[in-house]
Amino acid sequence: MQTLHTVAEMQAEADRARCAGRRLALVPTMGALHEGHLALVREARQRVGPEGHVTVSVFVNPTQFAPGEDYERYPRTLDADRAALAELVSEDGAGGADAVFAPSAEEMYPFGLPPLTTVRVAEMGRYLCGASRPGHFEGVTSVVTKLFLACRPDVAVFGQKDAQQLAILRRMTRELGFGIEIVGHPIVREKDGLALSSRNRYLSPEERRQAVVLSRALFAAGHAAGQGERSADALRQLMREQIALAPLAEVDYVEVVDADSLAPVETLEKEGPSGGRYLAALAVRFGGTRLIDNTTLRVA
Ligand code: PAF
Repeated sequence: MQTLHTVAEMQAEADRARCAGRRLALVPTMGALHEGHLALVREARQRVGPEGHVTVSVFVNPTQFAPGEDYERYPRTLDADRAALAELVSEDGAGGADAVFAPSAEEMYPFGLPPLTTVRVAEMGRYLCGASRPGHFEGVTSVVTKLFLACRPDVAVFGQKDAQQLAILRRMTRELGFGIEIVGHPIVREKDGLALSSRNRYLSPEERRQAVVLSRALFAAGHAAGQGERSADALRQLMREQIALAPLAEVDYVEVVDADSLAPVETLEKEGPSGGRYLAALAVRFGGTRLIDNTTLRVA
């Protein structure tokens, strides 16, 4: 497994793999890899097979952090990330990743910051996390575009935990005609239900204990929807009541939205625009740590 630091090296590696007839997969990450990321790498390997080529990018992208967010303190653990990837062996005996693409900020933004050229997916970037993180999704879509151009993969794998990011990237990929298959991998959770996140390491033991209310709130909403609750407000209220059981939790948002457009809804309907698929999504702060989680609600 090699580590590539420049766009030119990455493009040359991708060209070699493509010329050799290999299918290419990309797993974009910001590093600090945990089991959730490793599941994405396994998924990528499965998609391209043992003969395929898997790149994991590790880049803490400055343009998706607003001033005052955790860009400076975001964990940077490239050596440990490389070691975790080197140990990965998929079920068919193939390795996890062939390459790690770990560029510097100067390499990705050679003209400095902010870049003049960006990619924006209008409304979808303003709902949910977009409301409290203005500019965040423009940073994500712009850097993922640059990663796509550096790696030119056939398949790119993202976690469903960042459901808004996933929906926006799907839309961007289709609208710009990248011809890349976007795969969403299910959320990986701790035994008590907390979704794995690189930011969980910021939680104090008490915050970590209370953070279980996030998944409980979502599971309660999923259960109620499964029992026939169709009012989005009733589901939002149910989730807020669960979160209120954690005194350290401070709600940023608790929402029920259409699964594709991410627009808030009033009623869950089988004939809705996304064919009866909705997203219950939330963002909650514990001290200085903002956690997100979601679950898909299906109306059959
Ligand atoms: O999900 C992430 O880790 C980041 O938003 C991504 C997709 C790697 C872009 O920086």
